[in-house]
Amino acid sequence: MTEARETAVYTHGHHESVLRSHTWRTAGNSAAYLLGALRPDMRILDIGCGPGTITADLAALVPDGHVTGLDREPAILERARAVAGERGLTNVDFSAGDVHALDFPDDTFCVVHAHQVLQHVGDPVRALREMRRVTVPGGLVAVRDSDYAAMTWYPPSPGMDRWLDLYRRVARANGGEPDAGRRLKSWALAAGFTDVTAGSDTWTFSTARERAWWSGLWADRTVASAYAGRAVEGGHADREELREVAAAWREWGAREDGWFSVLHGEILCRKEA
Ligand SMILES: C[S@@+](CC[C@H](N)C(=O)[O-])C[C@H]1O[C@@H](n2cnc3c(N)ncnc32)[C@H](O)[C@@H]1O
Repeated sequence: MTEARETAVYTHGHHESVLRSHTWRTAGNSAAYLLGALRPDMRILDIGCGPGTITADLAALVPDGHVTGLDREPAILERARAVAGERGLTNVDFSAGDVHALDFPDDTFCVVHAHQVLQHVGDPVRALREMRRVTVPGGLVAVRDSDYAAMTWYPPSPGMDRWLDLYRRVARANGGEPDAGRRLKSWALAAGFTDVTAGSDTWTFSTARERAWWSGLWADRTVASAYAGRAVEGGHADREELREVAAAWREWGAREDGWFSVLHGEILCRKEA
C-alpha cells in the first residue's frame, strides 16, 4: 500500500449530524459480540473512539481495569473526555494516534477494539497487524464494521439508491472501503490471525422515532457534513443532486411503512498464547 492510501480521508468528518449517530452508540447496541469476553480487570484499547460513548461504556464494564480511547482527530477526543468526565469515570484516558502505527509497546492490551473504523482506513490489513502487535498473547482483537452494499430498506426509493451509489463512490475515492463488513474475516486472516470468529449483526430503524432520527441525520449529513463537501469537490455530485438525495431520505422517513436495516460484520480474533 502507498502512503497516500494509508492516510485515507475520514469520509464523514465530525459534523453535528455525524455525531448525532455516534453519540447514540453504546456497548450494548454496538459491541454486544464482545461483552461476554470481558473481565473486570482488563486493559482495553478502543481505536477510532470518536466521541467516546462506547469507550465510556467499556470503562464501566472493567472497573478494576483501564480503557484507552485513541483517535486520529485530536478535537474529537475533547468531546470523549467530556463524556467520560460526565460519567465520573476514572479508569479511562484518551490519546491521539493512527491505527496504522500505534505508539504502544508490543503485548500491552488484553482487548483491542475498533467500531466502524477499518472501513475508513487506507490499509486495514496493516491496521489489524498493528492491533495484533499491541495485544497480549491470548488476548482479543474485536472489530465491527457496517457493509454499505448490504444495507437495505423499504419502500424502494430511486433517490436512496442514488445515495448509496454516491456514498460508496465518495468513500472509495477517500481511500476507504464502504463494504467492509464482509471483508473483515479476510483482512484478519491476511494480517496473520489464525483464530478468527466471524459473525454479523444488524441495526434496524422502523418506528416513527427511529425513522425520523435516522433519515434526519442522513439528510443533514448529505448536505452539510464533510462528506457533502468531498462529494462536490471530488466531482461526484453537485449541490442540487445532494439536495435531492436529502429529500429522498426525508420522504423515506415520513413513510409509516418505512424500514431500514444496517448489516455489520464482526470479528473476534484471538492472538496465539
Ligand atoms: C465512524 S467513527 C466511529 C467512532 C466510534 N468508534 C463509534 O462507533 O461511535 C470513525 C472514527 O475513526 C477515526 N479514524 C479514522 N481513521 C483513523 C486512523 N487511521 N486511526 C485512528 N482513528 C481513525 C475517525 O476520526 C473517527 O472518529
